[in-house]
Amino acid sequence: MYRTHNCGELRIQDKGKKVKLAGWVQKIRKLGGMTFVDLRDRYGITQLTIDEKADRQLVQTVESLGREFVIQITGDVAERMSKNPKIATGEIEIILENVKILNASELPPFTIEDDTDGGDELRMKFRYLDLRRTPLRQALELRHTMAHEVRKYMDSQKFLEIETPYLIKSTPEGARDFIVPSRIHPGEFYALPQSPQTFKQILMVAGYDRYFQIVRCFRDEDLRADRQPEFTQIDCEMSFVEQNDILQTFEGLAKHLFKTVLGIDFTEDFPRMSYNDAMNFYGCDKPDIRFDMKITDITDSVKGNGFSVFDSAACIGAIVAGKCAEYTRKQLDELTDWVKRPQIGAKGLIYIKLNNDGIKSSVDKFYNSDELQAIADKTGAKTGDLILILAGERKITLAGLCALRLEMGNRLNLRNDKIFKPLWVIDFPLFEYDEETKRYYAMHHPFTSPVPEDLHKLESNPADVRANAYDFVVNGVEIGGGSIRIHDSQIQRTMFKVLGFTPEEAEKQFGFIINAFRYGAPPHGGIAFGFDRWCAIFGGSDSIRDYIAFPKNNSGKDVMIDSPSTVNSEQLEELGIKLISKI
Ligand code: AMO
Repeated sequence: MYRTHNCGELRIQDKGKKVKLAGWVQKIRKLGGMTFVDLRDRYGITQLTIDEKADRQLVQTVESLGREFVIQITGDVAERMSKNPKIATGEIEIILENVKILNASELPPFTIEDDTDGGDELRMKFRYLDLRRTPLRQALELRHTMAHEVRKYMDSQKFLEIETPYLIKSTPEGARDFIVPSRIHPGEFYALPQSPQTFKQILMVAGYDRYFQIVRCFRDEDLRADRQPEFTQIDCEMSFVEQNDILQTFEGLAKHLFKTVLGIDFTEDFPRMSYNDAMNFYGCDKPDIRFDMKITDITDSVKGNGFSVFDSAACIGAIVAGKCAEYTRKQLDELTDWVKRPQIGAKGLIYIKLNNDGIKSSVDKFYNSDELQAIADKTGAKTGDLILILAGERKITLAGLCALRLEMGNRLNLRNDKIFKPLWVIDFPLFEYDEETKRYYAMHHPFTSPVPEDLHKLESNPADVRANAYDFVVNGVEIGGGSIRIHDSQIQRTMFKVLGFTPEEAEKQFGFIINAFRYGAPPHGGIAFGFDRWCAIFGGSDSIRDYIAFPKNNSGKDVMIDSPSTVNSEQLEELGIKLISKI
């Protein structure tokens, strides 16, 4: 037997027991005539001690230990002189009787502590060492618990977990596909699924009624903190449902996870907000509603005073930063530089300060104090507040106001990561028009149905059609999205037509699902949640990387295994692939 106990379970009640433990050497300290070794495994840390007057050979072995050596020890559990209330085993220590080195370790390139000295890339390269650190272990434990609770809830609701293939044909989620060459069919390629969208709909045609899967998805898109090229979805589909059935079922899932994983009870229904309200009041379709600071559209109230920035703007919006009238010139300049960064792209920032001794603004030349007060009244600002205004093209201005609002929320500590404010965003537009390619794109995907009231406008006025689609948002993060699908082949044909597909092109790309729909497709709909994102949000982190055991870095590489990498010419030849040039 390698061990009688793990490194996290011995307590004062075990005093006097002879135990055998195994683990990694976290730290060695000498104090007076004593040596202390912290022994670590997945479950915790136990302190080992030895007196320099103990058996010489044993003392020598302990002195030869280095960080991250793997050892097995025996000894007696004793009460500690100076207790450590920060760890569960902090009241005891083991008086060493025997130490066996199971494996030596090279000196690790960074410290295996909660706050490590290793940089990002180094920790990614030595991921197995980084994963030994408690915060990462806890992140993966949280992920495990979440997955377990998802399965419990879904099973209780009669969902079947069904696997769908990874080697498929392109899926229509809008990102680029990762493609896999076929050896048996030279010149032909599989695509890795961006999601199991078409398969889950086909499962509904097959009569499976309620499907789910915790499934890997692959998207070749630009990376961000909340995006990975391979990520995991909780993918779900249901038959014979309307939007409200889906929202209720999955609000149930969310409440179950909040309760079982975080111990938070949501008794009220989650709010539902229309896409238009989200855009107008928060500047984006994933509002963080932990704090108010809504956008006020002041476009019509401020034009015509000769201030060209306002006069030429399509959209002028204001937010009120409570109790910030004291902001200094320096702080305002810094905020102005912040909104002018290319990521935000604002041309400038206009402010109105509601000081105790009167109103002051950066546009005093164009607006007298009554006019400024009128703007303040419109925004609901009070004495002591600071009004921040952006103006310009609508899309950029709203995105800028959204970012500025979140930034002010951070600065004013209004975004506590222990507080959760979930909501549904509904009534998305069905299409987005792209000026560059002069065509419509499905905002969600081409199988999303229009809301029934807007169906008649599908061909005549596509821009005005709302989708029967919904997103699940928590604290400003899009956790999930889905829709009620089109199950009528005539509507599906019209949809492809609006999207610019000829019937032949639609048949070539989606023939299999169009065909399946000929054989009795039930009304159905579904949703998929970004599992990594959900874990990160529950863990209080902005980055999903720590919640994935082996993630890719910022440039999509796995630096531990050095991938992607070149393959040898025989492999390429076998696949019938010739590299035109090595880039
Ligand atoms: P969608 O494309 O909105 O919908 O994806 C669903 C959820 O998956 C997460 N997500 C990601 N997470 C990490 N890295 C990425 N690159 C990434 N891309 C998406 C998000 C998102 O909300 N088939 C549809 C669902 C449906 O209609 O049922 C779909 O995939 O949290």
